[in-house]
Amino acid sequence: MGDADKNMPSVPGALVTGQTQDLGLPPEACLFEGPLDSCTVVIFGATGDLTAIKLMPALYSLFLRGGLPSPCGIVGCGRTTLSRQEFQERMGEAVKNAGLDFSSWQDFAALLDYLPLDYATAADYDSLGRFLSNLEEKQRLGGNRLFYLAVPPSLYAPISQELGRSGLSSEDEAHWVRLVVEKPFGRDLGTARELNRMLQAHFRESQIFRIDHYMAKETVQNIILLRFANAIFEPLWNHNYIKSIGIVAAETVGVGRRGRFYEETGVLRDMFQNHMMHLLAVTALEPPSLLEAERVRDEKLKVFRSLKPLARPELGEDIILGQYTRGKLADEEVPGYLEEPQVSPDSLTPTFAALRVFVDNWRWQGVPFFLVSGKRLPAKLTQIVIKFKEVPNSLFRNVTLGEIASNRLILGIYPEEKITLIFETKNPGAVMCLRRVTMEFPYYSHYSGPVMEAYEKSLMDAIQGDRMLFWRQDAVEECWSYLSPVIEKCETCPDRASSLHSYPAGTWGPEKAWPILARLVS
Ligand code: BG6
Repeated sequence: MGDADKNMPSVPGALVTGQTQDLGLPPEACLFEGPLDSCTVVIFGATGDLTAIKLMPALYSLFLRGGLPSPCGIVGCGRTTLSRQEFQERMGEAVKNAGLDFSSWQDFAALLDYLPLDYATAADYDSLGRFLSNLEEKQRLGGNRLFYLAVPPSLYAPISQELGRSGLSSEDEAHWVRLVVEKPFGRDLGTARELNRMLQAHFRESQIFRIDHYMAKETVQNIILLRFANAIFEPLWNHNYIKSIGIVAAETVGVGRRGRFYEETGVLRDMFQNHMMHLLAVTALEPPSLLEAERVRDEKLKVFRSLKPLARPELGEDIILGQYTRGKLADEEVPGYLEEPQVSPDSLTPTFAALRVFVDNWRWQGVPFFLVSGKRLPAKLTQIVIKFKEVPNSLFRNVTLGEIASNRLILGIYPEEKITLIFETKNPGAVMCLRRVTMEFPYYSHYSGPVMEAYEKSLMDAIQGDRMLFWRQDAVEECWSYLSPVIEKCETCPDRASSLHSYPAGTWGPEKAWPILARLVS
């Protein structure tokens, strides 16, 4: 190399190759934020599905990557009488079913304990207190405690009450105590307030973590970054340029073994009051002044406060409800909702809903948000579709074949985690024709590190005390204020039966909703 070459500034590869370099940090750098406080995780409902399917695989996966505090204890509690070894074996099966690397299981299993507990018996909580103190002393666990309520919602209040009565909810200067509460938070505004009153009789708001795993999905967290860490989106992100926004969470599964739970909730309480509302909020919120829990949660709250009440939901203009009947999915015959176990044969519980929502503020004036979710649809698909306004078509009217479609930005959450931009280009060739093309960014491209599942992130955040990805009570209440009147009207209107549209399993919901879905799933 000559002297002249030595003095030349290095040319970034991107300029030479024309490709964008991956400038991300090494995967390990973004995985965990510093050491976590030692603690004991106590799971109520330890023999239930949530623990087996989500919580234990998430804890084990964190353990495999060094993402659990050290030392750490995990105590399962439930009504079933099990020995410690039986519990460990059950959890081993659960982790195997989740397809995780089993080679470190024995090391993880050593952290697991089990204590049978009757939720209504005060003395059992006193025993739990003694059990935890002994364990903490023996294992030097430090005394921080995370109580996780993986139980039916009717048990949230009695368990928290007993935790309070037995002194287990009390923190001191050296030790924290946190309570993770699963959704649904109440059935309506009144019950949500009542539940909160009961929780707050023993826990301060800062101790309560209302979990919603949708908030912790990677690509959902990414929405705030996409919007505010880039200069190109935000100027267009308003009613001047956006025509409509669609948010879809379609599922192939039916209610399966959750019939009793689902009869009480239906799709509006199960998916809308929490997951769909969160997706709406992160798409619509104003930039917080700092990416910090309370400031982000303040901005979400403002979105919920701006929701325009549905004028006459019973007329089906802004809301379409459906219920699946027997049908075929992936060539397999599946039962209708009314045939599912623990479902009343004349149930009017909706398993599908499409809502047209307006955020009544300056930014979103007149822009409809279409929110659609349903069970037993042909594909599992979660995505947000931002449809931009059309350009004035006049310039191309003499040369185009076909019409110019509006640009769409699609934020894929499941199955493909990717961002897609659809836009018009010139079709190569002598004739001036337009061609619709897509530009895609698969979220994990140029990334070879581990991927963190939503429950892992939520558990880690709860242990860390970071509340950004959990619901705050005021936001829960705002969402209920919006949805409760809708649900009430739907449930009490005289033509309730005729406004619940049936759809065969394996189709895209009631036919009436197809025009909406056509924009969201193509
Ligand atoms: C849960 C609902 O919160 O979310 C279920 O109770 C639903 O009914 C599930 O199936 C969907 O979650 P995901 O992550 O599979 O989209």
